[in-house]
Order: sequence, then C-alpha cells, then structure tokens
Amino acid sequence: MRNYYVPKDSTLLLNNGDEPVAVGVYSEEGFELLSNLWIKSAAHHRLMYEPTWLGRPIIQFPTDIVAIQELVWKVRPDVIVETGVAHGGSLVLSASILELIGHGKVVGVDIEIRPHNRSAIEAHPLAHRIDLIEGSSISPDTFKAVRAAVGDATSVLVMLDSNHSEAHVLAELELYSSLILPGGYLVAHDGAQAWVWDIPNGKPEWKDDNPLGAIHKFLACHPEFSVDPQWTRWGITSSPQGFLKRGD
Ligand SMILES: C[S@@+](CC[C@H](N)C(=O)[O-])C[C@H]1O[C@@H](n2cnc3c(N)ncnc32)[C@H](O)[C@@H]1O
Repeated sequence: MRNYYVPKDSTLLLNNGDEPVAVGVYSEEGFELLSNLWIKSAAHHRLMYEPTWLGRPIIQFPTDIVAIQELVWKVRPDVIVETGVAHGGSLVLSASILELIGHGKVVGVDIEIRPHNRSAIEAHPLAHRIDLIEGSSISPDTFKAVRAAVGDATSVLVMLDSNHSEAHVLAELELYSSLILPGGYLVAHDGAQAWVWDIPNGKPEWKDDNPLGAIHKFLACHPEFSVDPQWTRWGITSSPQGFLKRGD
C-alpha cells in the first residue's frame, strides 16, 4: 500500500476513451467517482470473495456487511429469509445478530446447497438459528416451504441474493415482498452487476440484465416500497438502490 499527495484542489482525470472526465477529489462528484471506481476495481480483483463472518465465507463487500448488521439490529425481525446461501456466511452473519438480540431465526434458500457447505453450516455454533431449504427460490413449492418456515411471524426481513438475472430477481421481488409488512425491509442484492459489465472480465450482457433493472420495474408497480439510501451511504456497495423499505 502507498499514500499519494492529494491537496485541496486536486482533480481526478478519468480517461476512458470518450470525453475525459475531471472532477475535484474532495467534491461530492469526486466521492461518487471514487466509490464507483472502487466498486469496479474491487470487483475486478474479486474482493467480495475475501470476507468471512465467524468462520464462513460471505460474498459481500465489508460496507454491505456493516449495513446488514445495522439493519438486522434495527429491525429485530422474528424471521430473516435469505435467498442465495453459497457458503453460508450471510446466514451466519444474520444469525449472529439475532443471537445477540436473543430471538429470531434465519431461513436460507438455495437451488443447490453443496454437501460441504451444508455440513459446515449445520455444524456451526449458530446452526440452531438457521433453517435451510433447497430449491429454486421462485418455485411455488419452495415458496410454500418458506411460508411454512415463516409461520405466523409478523416481522420478516428478506434479502435476495440468488440468481441475478432481471427476470429472476423481479419474480423474487414479487413473491417475497408479500412477506413484508408496513415498516419492513426487502433487500435485493447485487444491483452493481449493472455497473461492472465494463470491467476487464465483466460480461456485456450484465449491462441490460441485472438486479437493478428488476428493482426499477418492481418499484414502478409497488409505490408502497421505496429505496432507503442510508444503508449505502458509504458509497461502496454491491447493492445500489437495493435496500427497499415498505411504507405504511
Ligand atoms: C452470490 S451467491 C450467494 C451469496 C450469499 N448470499 C453470501 O452473501 O455469502 C448466489 C447463490 O445463489 C444460488 N442460486 C442460483 N440460482 C438460484 C435459484 N434459482 N434459487 C435459489 N438459489 C439460487 C447459487 O447456488 C449460489 O449459492
């Protein structure tokens, strides 16, 4: 790591082959550009695969991990439903905050829970707060199992982080939003897929097929939900406009 000399009136010059962009480093726009560059560069270096939470890999940027901690602590839900289990780190993160709160459980849904991940999650000290459901998150049978696991809980927090195509996320948003009562939160992760199609190993199709498009379509039909910007206030996030709050 190294430090750069960056006094008050320094500018950032972005030369991307179009019109060069120059912005003040310490301006609002400079913060936005730096944050956006960090997201692109960190995605290029695959930094979202680095964190672990209480021993389990969690596929999130550290700022999103802090946001999720704050959100769970604030909402104090009876049940957290998460689609996209992977190694189980996000389930363990949610379960760890619920453990400190003293109540609640996490329901994790994944189309394929690999045996070594299942064993590690089931052997984790927080396993008593975690239920696992295997199946596609948008299949009727899976959602029926999720509803059964939620039971008569009234405070439910949902986080969607499975297949990141627009069609899949939109279907998840339509289904899982039915679990959210006024004042509750629905999180659609990884909208930043729309922002990393242009990085060296990005996929051009991400430009038009991503969770952000699903969020915009969902919000256009569901005025009861709106983006709560406080959870992405660090500028660095994989989930821009992804923290949705249900109004009254
Ligand atoms: C990005 S990872 C989840 C990361 C995890 N939430 C975390 O923060 O560590 C995406 C997961 O979604 C799962 N997945 C893909 N398609 C799915 C579907 N149709 N239904 C449920 N899960 C799916 C994959 O198997 C994979 O484990």
